[in-house]
Amino acid sequence: MQSIAKYKEQIAAYLGSIMLDGQPKELYDPVAYILSLGGKQIRPVLTLMAADIFNEDPKKAIYAATAIELFHNFSLMHDDIMDDAPLRRGHQTVHEKWDINTAILSGDAMLILAYQYFENYEPIIFRDLAKLFSKTAIQVCEGQQYDICFEQRSDVKIEEYVKMIEYKTAVLVAAALKMGAIVAQTTEENANQIYNFGLNLGIAFQLLDDHLDAFGDEATFGKRIGGDILENKKTFLYLNALEKANPLQKEELQAFYATVLCADEVHKIERVKQLFIETGSQLASLQLIEKYTEEALAIVAVLAIGEDKKELLRIFSKELMNRQM
Ligand code: IPE
Ligand code: IPE
Ligand code: MG
Ligand code: MG
Ligand code: MG
Repeated sequence: MQSIAKYKEQIAAYLGSIMLDGQPKELYDPVAYILSLGGKQIRPVLTLMAADIFNEDPKKAIYAATAIELFHNFSLMHDDIMDDAPLRRGHQTVHEKWDINTAILSGDAMLILAYQYFENYEPIIFRDLAKLFSKTAIQVCEGQQYDICFEQRSDVKIEEYVKMIEYKTAVLVAAALKMGAIVAQTTEENANQIYNFGLNLGIAFQLLDDHLDAFGDEATFGKRIGGDILENKKTFLYLNALEKANPLQKEELQAFYATVLCADEVHKIERVKQLFIETGSQLASLQLIEKYTEEALAIVAVLAIGEDKKELLRIFSKELMNRQM
């Protein structure tokens, strides 16, 4: 088994070696730019780790890992347009640094580049990877559309929110792990169990992302704090606050989320955060993150793998859930 640091090194080195100097440079420069900003690269690390866990040389999973990370970066480029986000990984988003058309097309190119990486595998593995990838990618689109639809809806239920984050985020984390399992050609049961571990971890991951979007620190989080509040995102923080609010608090929250044109953005962010704290939704959100992390760890406990491998998954999960970025 390798260390988590070693997987990160392998991924960073491989991503850094990808040639992105093609023509026209207007298409490739933004791709090189967003990749140069790095990010946590958790998904490709999970792919390598899963291959290793199921007794394959993690190097064999590097192409699948790269495909996953390229797809993730494609989804971020388009997500930042949709969310009107100015900051990504502590730097200007692509559509702000260039323009929206650039972010659309360079994002598209990254999606295709991602797919091409599967061509490095023999037919059976290629087929399984491509199948999982297509299914996952369409679910991400569905999740992203729900996220956007929910901005305008005032009757979103918490179950709907959980389903939405499962689709827009958790399925990709789960697929990253399952791809490692596919490359390792392990049993279907192992592949499905590691997928379910990823699904629960991914839900906890998005819950924490939503939490940090309100309560994190811009310098470490690398995104604009309060962005979700300004976009009227129906996060767990908001939906749970609504459930717990007294009539006055409820009216105030709903009024803030009824309009996209906001005269005083700083005031909206500060007051809404205060309401999240006052109603107890800030705490409830941390508890729900804990719950999904525990669900993930319960799956680790029953995986048919050695104790050292289980420990690696536990350490990774804990580090991921203690992050500030
Ligand atoms: C951001 O993902 C989008 C979400 C699904 C929350 P990450 O938090 O993994 O972003 P990077 O790649 O580390 O920047
Ligand atoms: C992003 O969710 C999910 C995808 C990109 C598919 P968010 O909109 O919360 O991600 P961030 O916060 O912008 O990274
Ligand atoms: Mg979004
Ligand atoms: Mg976003
Ligand atoms: Mg977010």
